[in-house]
Amino acid sequence: MAEKKVPAVDPEVCIGCSACSAICPNVFEMQAEGKSKAVNGEADTEENIQRAIDTCPVQAISWKNKA
Ligand code: F3S
Repeated sequence: MAEKKVPAVDPEVCIGCSACSAICPNVFEMQAEGKSKAVNGEADTEENIQRAIDTCPVQAISWKNKA
């Protein structure tokens, strides 16, 4: 069975540009401290999430295998 992959934001790298949450508002949520967090990695299509990953200016988002 194929592993399901979900995105994860590295808070050490994120600069809070919020492009990811503009592209996938159901997946990435801006937190009080100004960083993005992937709150639901399955709430958008893989293509759209990949677009958010590619758009992040500091490459803070990566795919992780779902536990
Ligand atoms: Fe942070 Fe990149 Fe999103 S800088 S807010 S993870 S687009």
